[in-house]
Amino acid sequence: MKKILMTSFAGLNLTNPIIIGSSGLTNTPEKNTALEKAGVGAVILPSIFEEQIEIQTSKDIWTDCPKACDYILNSLNGMQLEDYLQLIEKSKNACRIPVIASINCYRDNGWIDFVRQIEMAGADAIELNIFGLNTEIDRPGNTVEDIYLQITRKVKSMVNIPVIVKMSKYFSHIVKLADDLRKVGADGIVLFSRFYQPDIDIHLMQASSGYVFSSNTEIADTLRWTSLVRTKLPDVSIASCTGIHDWEDIIKCILCGASAVELCSTVYQHGNEIIQAMNRSLEEWMLAKDFKSIEEVKGKLNFGEIQDPSLHERVQFMKYFSNRD
Ligand SMILES: Cc1cc2nc3c(=O)[nH]c(=O)nc-3n(C[C@H](O)[C@H](O)[C@H](O)COP(=O)(O)O)c2cc1C
Repeated sequence: MKKILMTSFAGLNLTNPIIIGSSGLTNTPEKNTALEKAGVGAVILPSIFEEQIEIQTSKDIWTDCPKACDYILNSLNGMQLEDYLQLIEKSKNACRIPVIASINCYRDNGWIDFVRQIEMAGADAIELNIFGLNTEIDRPGNTVEDIYLQITRKVKSMVNIPVIVKMSKYFSHIVKLADDLRKVGADGIVLFSRFYQPDIDIHLMQASSGYVFSSNTEIADTLRWTSLVRTKLPDVSIASCTGIHDWEDIIKCILCGASAVELCSTVYQHGNEIIQAMNRSLEEWMLAKDFKSIEEVKGKLNFGEIQDPSLHERVQFMKYFSNRD
């Protein structure tokens, strides 16, 4: 791989900006070796859920809900904690690229001790996918932000490897939360995670799940917030995620300020072959534009000189709609 594509994200040195997002694409050491061969910069293992950790480390607190316990233990992804640690260890032995563990969590409690074992198994970093919906009428909105900060602070105090926070986009002040995460020690943030998509089956009259893969139209928020966070917080290391489907999308994210991107849907849809093609096109584009490094491209088109990005966006919004009759 050519040096021109080298980048660093959350303190990790990557041969190129393409990271495979947490999913079934990375659930065996063999798949991770194949991804490395295809040219990815790093892999993020599938998430282990805090419930899986809690059940296996303190079974007693789950005795009231045996059905939930059974589902989490046997049906979810069948992942036992020992399997997860083995996946880290074997992937690390098989690959030279960074191997990042992932935890899906929403509470600041007992599961957090497990991060020490993840570090001991050899993970190069930990990504936290913090996801919990606030549906209690008397629970203030900022309790979700507080949970993000508490979990990140605690995980950071337990490990020496980088801690990355995969953020939801459903916050009223994303830039402030990114800044607060940096202050409690997050080494990098991912903008954004993509939630489970609910749908309704009107024929069966029941809830169903929406399409599991993203569409490239979902990139707009990824670009907007990568750009805004980069402009306001140039020291925060960002990986863009959601809706990135081709090499042009990767360039857009880097121009907005990303150090790397996390991909998932497009690799499911097109196979590992797309990675080499993306890397080649990225390099050709950089050479054609006379860029010598990803660092030179990074943030070139963020909100830079614009004094008030919010006002700027309002004006764009007015222009966007006023031209339509
Ligand atoms: C089949 C599948 C499984 C996924 N599993 C996880 C997971 O275990 N943990 C996680 O944080 N994200 C998971 N994701 C979300 C992806 O990592 C990624 O954030 C999301 O798909 C948006 O990226 P994309 O637009 O490139 O698909 C999964 C996505 C898919 C399609």
